[in-house]
Order: sequence, then C-alpha cells, then structure tokens
Amino acid sequence: MNWTAPEIFIHATDAVGKTKIPALAKKTGLSVTEDPDSGWLLQTSANGLRIVRPDGVSVNVDFIEGKVNRRADESNFRKQPLARALGMNKPFAASTGIARVPRVIDATAGFGTDAWMMASLGCSVTLLEDSAVLCALLNDAIDAALANVATARTAQSMHVIHTKAVDYLTDGSANSADIVYLDPMYPMARKQALVKKGMQFLHELIGPDSNGSELLSSALAKASYRVVVKRPKGADVLSGTENWNGQMTSIDSPNTRFDVYHVGTRR
Ligand SMILES: C[S@@+](CC[C@H](N)C(=O)[O-])C[C@H]1O[C@@H](n2cnc3c(N)ncnc32)[C@H](O)[C@@H]1O
Repeated sequence: MNWTAPEIFIHATDAVGKTKIPALAKKTGLSVTEDPDSGWLLQTSANGLRIVRPDGVSVNVDFIEGKVNRRADESNFRKQPLARALGMNKPFAASTGIARVPRVIDATAGFGTDAWMMASLGCSVTLLEDSAVLCALLNDAIDAALANVATARTAQSMHVIHTKAVDYLTDGSANSADIVYLDPMYPMARKQALVKKGMQFLHELIGPDSNGSELLSSALAKASYRVVVKRPKGADVLSGTENWNGQMTSIDSPNTRFDVYHVGTRR
C-alpha cells in the first residue's frame, strides 16, 4: 500500500485555544494556520484537542465521557480477554508473588484506549508513542481526566513518552516493566465501513506497521512477566521470536486475539 503522512496544521477555534498554540507548536513541530480549510488540523479550543480530517470528521481522546471509561466500569471487566491476557483477572500478587502495582509499558499507545483499560485494572502504565500529534491528544485527555474526581486516580497511573518504542525498550536506563503490551498497526480491512472511525484515522495518520517484529523481540528482552500482543482475529502471529523459546498462549475475543508470551515464571 502506498501511504504518505498527511501534513497537519495547528488551528485554534477560540481564545483559549490560541493561548495553547505556542506550547503545541513546540511539542509537535507543526505549523500554525488561521484557515480552517487548510487540510488536516490539530484543532485546539476551550474543549480540548481534536484531530480534524479535511472532510471535517474529527476524533479526540476522551477518558471521562468516552466509551473507554464505560467499558472499564463493566461488572465483568476483570474477566474480559485483555485482563486475562495481562494476568490481571486475579490479583497480580497472587499470580506472580510480586506485591506491588504491576508496571506495564504500552509500546504502541495510539489513542490510549487499551492503556486506559490497563490503568483501570490497577496497572501503572507508561505509554510510548512515536507520533507527536497522538502524544498531544493523549496528554490533553490525561490532563482532563486528572482534573475530574471520577477519573483522576486512573489518570495518575498513566505517563506518556514521545519516543520510538524500540529505542526506549532497548535503553538499559529506562524503567523496567513486568508487562510489555504491543498493538502494532495492521493492514486496513477491505470493508472500510466496518472499521471504527478511530482506527480509520490511525491508518490515515500513521500508515501501516513497519517495525512489529523488532518491537516484539525488544519487548521480549524487556518484560519480566509477560508480553501481550493484540492481533486481529485470524492474523498471523508477529515475527520476532527467533531468539525466544518460551511458552506462548492465545486468548480470543470476537474480533481480536491476544498472543501472550510468558516471559517470567510464576513465583
Ligand atoms: C494500532 S495503534 C494502537 C492503538 C492502541 N492500542 C489504542 O488502544 O488506541 C498503533 C500505534 O502505535 C504507534 N507505534 C507504532 N510503532 C511504534 C514505535 N516503534 N514506537 C512508538 N509508537 C509506535 C503508532 O504511531 C500508533 O499510534
């Protein structure tokens, strides 16, 4: 697939948004426009940040009102496939013998949906993201969640780092992790209408995966308990396990499969 990264401009729609422009421009390196018809926009206003496509369709990251927070409130949340893949369907200490909050590196943060779920399960989550625009959206949503009584505690467990994940995972001085979570981009489904809006945006903004196997091999070297890889149902397992001979299991959900690489032995 031929993919070219779209040019994105920062655009403020009100006075509050204008005050945020200098910091945003510094963090993202994007140019500023006054013209709302300039193409892709990182739109800033009193209501926070949104990414707007040239056709006017937009997405934001919302950990307060968004679907992600309602999912985390579901009564069977701890029995859902993600919790089971992480080993968080039981108290972490009971599974591992480690009496502290599990430390997760989400090496492909995207819109932070999975990271929010993991933080809601009680993990401390370091979100790595290569896209400066996505980092800005994530930080904006985390700041809003920190200021909200109902979401502040979960938001406190999330820390965004703008980096190439392989650099971070292979940097010996970076924080250690019990679990490394990977959700690399995968090819766009043929039936575009079936793909959720957020995923369509990611495909247009980020393009196809180019480093999945490198991510997996560095994740396997970094995690002390598990590496969890999210794949579309029916997709091949990620390559990158050439130097690894451990046990791998899979957990299926209707559209997704979680491949679980058991790095550490249960204590
Ligand atoms: C499929 S999305 C992840 C979606 C995410 N799990 C969620 O819940 O929103 C993959 C993301 O990983 C990021 N990514 C891919 N390779 C990366 C790398 N080497 N370092 C950092 N981020 C990376 C992409 O920019 C993209 O935002």
